[in-house]
Amino acid sequence: MLRLMVLFAAVLVLAAGPAMAVVGGGEVVLKNKGGDVTFSHESHVAGASLNCQACHPKLFVNAKKHKAVTMKQMEKGQSCGACHNGKTAFSVKSDCKSCHK
Ligand code: HEC
Ligand code: HEC
Ligand code: HEC
Repeated sequence: MLRLMVLFAAVLVLAAGPAMAVVGGGEVVLKNKGGDVTFSHESHVAGASLNCQACHPKLFVNAKKHKAVTMKQMEKGQSCGACHNGKTAFSVKSDCKSCHK
């Protein structure tokens, strides 16, 4: 866990370097059977005013270390479902098209 956090801290420093125009990890495409989902750092960090620690490193590390979850697991609060539960943000049980294009 500590190694993971150190690694992540290094990634943050790199990300904050010259590419200030890109917010956090930019746009990340999560391919899956329900239709590709594009996660936007801009709309979460700038739009929804979330800080990096709301998601990193507890929920997500980076695209390479991504561990795919199912919608069932999200409904139980994993991954995007930690917030997309109909209270903090729109629910993973509906609004499929808001995420899957
Ligand atoms: C709402 C959740 C959320 C917030 C807040 C957030 N991130 Fe991310 N971040 C993600 C997701 C999702 C990924 C994709 C990795 C994955 O799917 O496991 C990611 C990936 C990354 C990556 C790796 C990109 C890649 O292509 O692998 C970096 C770097 C990153 N984030 C930096 C940041 C920084 C810096 C902040 C704060 C300014 C931040 N993130 C805030 C969810 C978030
Ligand atoms: C908050 C965004 C979001 C919403 C809303 C959402 N999904 Fe997903 N869904 C994802 C992401 C992201 C993945 C990929 C998960 C991963 O890679 O960890 C996924 C994966 C899937 C998968 C493949 C995994 C599995 O469970 O079989 C299917 C099918 C799917 N979604 C269907 C749906 C349907 C149907 C709805 C509406 C009832 C829905 N999704 C709502 C983000 C969302
Ligand atoms: C830490 C909480 C949190 C997590 C985790 C999170 N979101 Fe969100 N998300 C929000 C909030 C807050 C909003 C804005 C309120 C709303 O739209 O309900 C939002 C808005 C969105 C939107 C609408 C704005 C846009 O970008 O078009 C999409 C799509 C979305 N999230 C997808 C995702 C996906 C996909 C994941 C998982 C990879 C995810 N979110 C994880 C909190 C979160």
